[in-house]
Amino acid sequence: MLKIAVLISGGGSNLQAIIDKIESGYLNCSIEMVISDREGAYGIERARKKGIKTYVLDRKVYGAELSKKILSLTEEKVDLIVLAGFLSILDKELICSFRNRIINIHPSLIPSFCGPRMYGIKVHEKAVEYGVKYSGCTVHFVDEGTDTGAIISQRIVEVYPEDTAEILQKRVLEEEHKLLPEVIRLIAEKRIKVEGRKVFIL
Ligand code: GAR
Repeated sequence: MLKIAVLISGGGSNLQAIIDKIESGYLNCSIEMVISDREGAYGIERARKKGIKTYVLDRKVYGAELSKKILSLTEEKVDLIVLAGFLSILDKELICSFRNRIINIHPSLIPSFCGPRMYGIKVHEKAVEYGVKYSGCTVHFVDEGTDTGAIISQRIVEVYPEDTAEILQKRVLEEEHKLLPEVIRLIAEKRIKVEGRKVFIL
């Protein structure tokens, strides 16, 4: 069974989607641990309610050592690290140790509205401001850049002229909650093959 660590910084609705899909039998994997880089992240409560092991590694306390600590917790304990609204940048050593075994969900159609300092509601503010007709979400492998790793899958939503960033965020989140479990399932079923930037679904 695929063993995963879920890393969060906030509300953890994507974590909840994974938990729900495990409970419904859609996902055959186990969440070995949930790690937050912030005190008070509601996602930690969601995990505790389900008896999942949790670690709070406050980024202000750990600073540059955060990735080392994450590596020490996850190495040889999990097969896959899932960044589900995790906002710290991981270091090279962790990324190399988990090459093509760290995935991230981002709330836009990468390569639009992504990169350094583009996260959460800011992404939707930029999309609304730009006047795009479509936005969506992306799950990609994590490499040394910010939101630059090979794209595994994307889902699209329509954007209407009267949308606010909050309305768009809600619409995109609904798709995130389907996309992230879908990708984890593909990985659990070993149906993903990576060749450079191209990801093939077998
Ligand atoms: C999600 O929309 C996720 O895509 C985004 O943070 C939110 C977390 O929500 N991630 C990023 O912006 C990363 N660049 P959640 O805590 O309710 O799952």
